[in-house]
Amino acid sequence: MRDYREFLESVLISEQELQRRIRELGAEISRDYQDSDLLLICILRGGVLFLADLMRSLTVPHSVDFMAVSSYGKGARESKGNVRISLDLTTSIEGRHVLLVEDIIDSGNTIASVLELLSTRRPASLRVCTLLDKAERREAVVPIHYRGFTIPNKFVFGYGLDLDEYYRNLPFIGVVHPDKYLQTG
Ligand code: PRP
Repeated sequence: MRDYREFLESVLISEQELQRRIRELGAEISRDYQDSDLLLICILRGGVLFLADLMRSLTVPHSVDFMAVSSYGKGARESKGNVRISLDLTTSIEGRHVLLVEDIIDSGNTIASVLELLSTRRPASLRVCTLLDKAERREAVVPIHYRGFTIPNKFVFGYGLDLDEYYRNLPFIGVVHPDKYLQTG
């Protein structure tokens, strides 16, 4: 497998910046959910690193569950807006205070579909926490309650985000080199 440095144009958000901002988000969420029965729902797969670090920064009791949603065709890099639930929750969210945890909101189609579905299950509250917000690409109007960083419209990878399913483990967010962009698929 090729070294990630072959595809890395620049580091957009360093490990230190990520961890500092996640601690801030954790403190804010802990304040807001002090007296609530909080359930974090991670949208697989990109959100797992963010979830793991966010959980460790929370000081309030909480539980977690997972969903998998496909919004991109295999190998494609543009959101198609066709969202499919491929793994549903194992717990009931009725009466729970639900916080959706995402790595990135791009077009917004994925989170809009998930919000629509989950709101029918009568949670006590339903909010969104995303590490990255690629705001200029938005197609669907979605409420974002907790936002780590607003980022430019660049193809990014690392810290949960993949480049053709690899390099999710990188501790920083990197920008893919434009010359290498088309050589990986
Ligand atoms: C990414 C990301 C979001 C979605 C955002 O997931 O984790 O779920 O795309 O895009 P949107 O706002 O345009 O809908 P992806 O489908 O790449 O799957 P992955 O998390 O398994 O990599």
